[in-house]
Amino acid sequence: MLPQRLIQRCNERIAPFACEGFVYGKGSDSPSIMFVGEAPGETEIHNGIPFSGRAGRYFDGFLQELELTRDDVYVTSTVRSRPYKWGQPKGREKRKYNRTPNQGEIAAHAPILDAEIEYLEPRLIVPMGRIAYQRLAGGSARMSEVTGHLVTSPVLRLDDWDTRSYTWTNTTYPLFPIYHPAAALYKRSLEADISAHLEKLKQHLR
Ligand code: URA
Repeated sequence: MLPQRLIQRCNERIAPFACEGFVYGKGSDSPSIMFVGEAPGETEIHNGIPFSGRAGRYFDGFLQELELTRDDVYVTSTVRSRPYKWGQPKGREKRKYNRTPNQGEIAAHAPILDAEIEYLEPRLIVPMGRIAYQRLAGGSARMSEVTGHLVTSPVLRLDDWDTRSYTWTNTTYPLFPIYHPAAALYKRSLEADISAHLEKLKQHLR
């Protein structure tokens, strides 16, 4: 779906950063929902399937609660390569760890997400977690303030690579932000909120 030339240019932009691999967005070409995550992890860059690692088990649980399959939706992320840092826990081997993408990495791959939104015209965009939400909606709101609320709004698209400036789309999209599937891995107490948000999302789909 995406022009290879676009992907190549975005990958040239991200090359100076500590990122590896490339995972394509996957799913329906007329999706009922476009899910936007943060960035792939180690499992995803090896098998090329978004949300197939530990967070993926929670993501599949989200789909089950929504009574949807991966073929009904489109799954993508803010950055398509895995941002990593080296670490060496005491007495263990040095290895790569996932880290949050920085603004340079987000801008480098921004035209990919912009193109997906433009081509797929999703009926609903569900940013999962702060990185995806702020990439699309801007601002600095906390996830606890925005999750579980439907807003119809333009989204941000990259305007200029060098200055990393964004502009609003002319089209508006229904946005329903939720917590990132990995959030419950780190904070069990979010589980009840996540379930309530998914229930509300399911009502909106009806
Ligand atoms: N987190 C994401 O945002 N995407 C993945 O594919 C895996 C984890």
